[in-house]
Amino acid sequence: MSTVLVLNGPNLGRLGSREPDVYGSANLDDLRTLLVASARPGVSIDLRQTDDEAELIHWLYEAVDERMSVILNPAAFTHYSYALRDAAALVTKAGLCLIEVHISNPHARETFRHTSVVSAIATGVIAGLGFDSYRLALDFVTAPAPRRNSAFGA
Ligand code: DQA
Repeated sequence: MSTVLVLNGPNLGRLGSREPDVYGSANLDDLRTLLVASARPGVSIDLRQTDDEAELIHWLYEAVDERMSVILNPAAFTHYSYALRDAAALVTKAGLCLIEVHISNPHARETFRHTSVVSAIATGVIAGLGFDSYRLALDFVTAPAPRRNSAFGA
């Protein structure tokens, strides 16, 4: 059984009631249900949320130590947390996949959301597709290796 860590940053615990016009009306339990139903056989989903930057950083260390792929929605930390970025870089430098995901399309929103300090060290970024951003990231990180390599023209 391999485990994919699905990490969610601040205010995402309020999904369902938070700005439904932007984020939809489904909550994190609905996201977990979707991902568990979409997971390939032998893949388990460990979905977590925190409003605490330090906790999120420690979960990234855990991904490195346990060699788990990460789907990360850094939420507002995306835009300014160099500490989170440095921890996320440990994951990809360890040769593990880390996909940055967003429910909304930050580039179509306020200017401060146009910058991500995480994207440059992520394996890839998927944004603006609602919960499908996570589902597509899960498909990618659990794809058999040849398919994953073909994404890079190898
Ligand atoms: C978000 C986009 C961020 O700009 C925002 O701060 C969030 C959610 C998204 O999933 O669309 O909290 O990461």
